[in-house]
Amino acid sequence: MTKKPILISGIQPTGNLHIGNYLGAVKNWVDLQNSGKYRMFICIVDLHALTGNQSAEEVKKNTLNLAIELLAAGIDPKKTTLFVQSHVTGHTELAWLFNCITPLGELERMTQFKDKSSRQMKNINAGLLTYPALMASDILLYQSQRIPVGEDQVQHVELTRSIARWFNGRYGDYFTLPEVVLTNIPRVKSLQEPDKKMSKSHGEKNYIALCDDPEVIQNKLKKAVTASEGGMGSQGVQNLLGLLKEFGEKDVYEMYLKQEKDGTIQYGNLKKDLAQIISDTFSDFRVERKKYLSNQRRVLTILKEGAKGAQKVADKTLKEVYRLVGLR
Ligand code: TRP
Repeated sequence: MTKKPILISGIQPTGNLHIGNYLGAVKNWVDLQNSGKYRMFICIVDLHALTGNQSAEEVKKNTLNLAIELLAAGIDPKKTTLFVQSHVTGHTELAWLFNCITPLGELERMTQFKDKSSRQMKNINAGLLTYPALMASDILLYQSQRIPVGEDQVQHVELTRSIARWFNGRYGDYFTLPEVVLTNIPRVKSLQEPDKKMSKSHGEKNYIALCDDPEVIQNKLKKAVTASEGGMGSQGVQNLLGLLKEFGEKDVYEMYLKQEKDGTIQYGNLKKDLAQIISDTFSDFRVERKKYLSNQRRVLTILKEGAKGAQKVADKTLKEVYRLVGLR
């Protein structure tokens, strides 16, 4: 039997999952998991979250909440090792070693570093800069070969490959270079500012959370920007049609597409139908989420088991790496 390739991805605990996270990452993970082709790790990256502005209570609450939502969305702990980054020692240790072989200039030119620095001017901490070394450690600690990420993370995976190369060059061939598995779903846009990507940072009305109740979804979509309402309208319409394509039946999507071309489209109808379709898509999710919410001990046990499994793999790598760099 040939060994299955190892696949890892990470997600920051920042609040409720929204349909942008779902289409851009989580749905893809569930499909990859269910394909049975990989040994899969999903890591809730709480250490990465500390580079932002969340309070201690928020980080704690968001970490548990994210675990609940990932489980409710179909991550199956029998098939996937789901764990919290800080529960496994080794991520920060390997990251330190990587800090020591990564040229400062490489970190400074990362788009996300520049982006985030400009968005949190009062908190440009060193962690924001060395973030990619920690991410490289998440990946290489498990000797992962496949990394399913969205486009915004490709640069970080490329840097991870470089880090693996620098390490191998200095200490001997050890790490296999990981490869990106690009999720081919277009970015979901904000409902209010459809020139921006859907994100929690722009406020409630901009995104649809997976746990939103049907009335909330109806309301948010009702207020979504469309063509009749100014400059960004056509981008808004494209965004809604894109969502319909992802979530709806093909004939419904094609009907609205045709109406949009004819100019007979009624945006009110499109919004109402789309809201219904999205609500239906996540009705199981809402039920599952409530179940996990009322049984948080079960979730904590799953995370504990996950960390145990991950730790075994991590320990082996770290032991070998410490020997290679001369620390043992
Ligand atoms: N940096 C990624 C993001 O912001 C999250 C992440 C952390 C990650 N570690 C990872 C993704 C390892 C893939 C593999 O989306």
